[in-house]
Amino acid sequence: MSSRRKFLKTAALSSAVFGSGNIFAEKSNPYKTVKGSAVVVSTWDFGKTANLGAWEVLGKGGRALDAVEQGVKIPEADPTNQTIGYGGLPDRDGFVTLDSCIMDEKYNCGSVMCLEHIMHPISVARLVMEKTPHIVLAGEGALQFALANGFEKVNLLTAQSEKDWKEWMKTANYKPESNIENKLYNKGNDPMPGGPNNHDTIGMMAMDANGDMSGACTTSGLAYKMHGRVGDSPIIGAGLYVDNEVGAATASGVGEEVIRIVGSHLVVELMRGGMSPEKACTVAVQRIVKRSPERSKTIQVGFVALNKKGEYGGYSLQPGFSFSVKSNKVEQVFKAASYYK
Ligand code: GLY
Repeated sequence: MSSRRKFLKTAALSSAVFGSGNIFAEKSNPYKTVKGSAVVVSTWDFGKTANLGAWEVLGKGGRALDAVEQGVKIPEADPTNQTIGYGGLPDRDGFVTLDSCIMDEKYNCGSVMCLEHIMHPISVARLVMEKTPHIVLAGEGALQFALANGFEKVNLLTAQSEKDWKEWMKTANYKPESNIENKLYNKGNDPMPGGPNNHDTIGMMAMDANGDMSGACTTSGLAYKMHGRVGDSPIIGAGLYVDNEVGAATASGVGEEVIRIVGSHLVVELMRGGMSPEKACTVAVQRIVKRSPERSKTIQVGFVALNKKGEYGGYSLQPGFSFSVKSNKVEQVFKAASYYK
């Protein structure tokens, strides 16, 4: 075996076993795909299942836009995922409110914010993009638009999420936001910031066989948020951005911090300037740390990006952020490197 092949094999193995994010450093990404070959990248380990849904479209030569919509619909309909769609944890008043957006290869985009009672907010966001002169519909207007277009009204609050919310209500006492974040991101003082609820969003980016890119991002947002609160996920440029000339990026974590730096757009612009996906995600995270060094120690934010060459990478504030990749060559969950160790 040549020394180069030996290195690639070793790097692949150590990533799979130890989850090193360093293999994504510039010039050392062994998983580079050829421009134009299909690839899908999404946040967290549950992205692996969502990627398979996207791959049903991409693997047949389908469009990236259709792939990302189909892919994220899987966690949206999964009642065991308490941070996305059906089964999502409610706000502090007991309402499950969903935020979603979608963006295609021509800067077309659609978004719904604070949408209730709809199983697949991502499909409503796509309809906003394709059937209205607008980009964002929010709240009751978004619901009326969905119902008028044939979406069914459903109860998104599962018995488990209602039970968890009622348990939280016993002690939460409408305390400030940071307590909620601690509950969400450091449940039970887990030594690894995160614990069972350290994820909160699926962001997915795909490049199809034509080399066209699209993205989707969908979430029920921070658990027990104030009623009416909207995070980064449905905000184009914050939770998701796609520029078909450069690449795409998406975010997970405390949305307020992502919005402040318009994080996903920032990552894409850094890639336009020549940075690798991992380096661009790293610089975006560093900007959050610079703005609020103390707060950044207690919260999680992660970025993941895919460039036009098919290279991908991620980076987060805290350990524990992961992203999933599927192409003809790779089907794997990667642990991202992090600012705090
Ligand atoms: N990143 C999801 C949220 O903050 O709602």
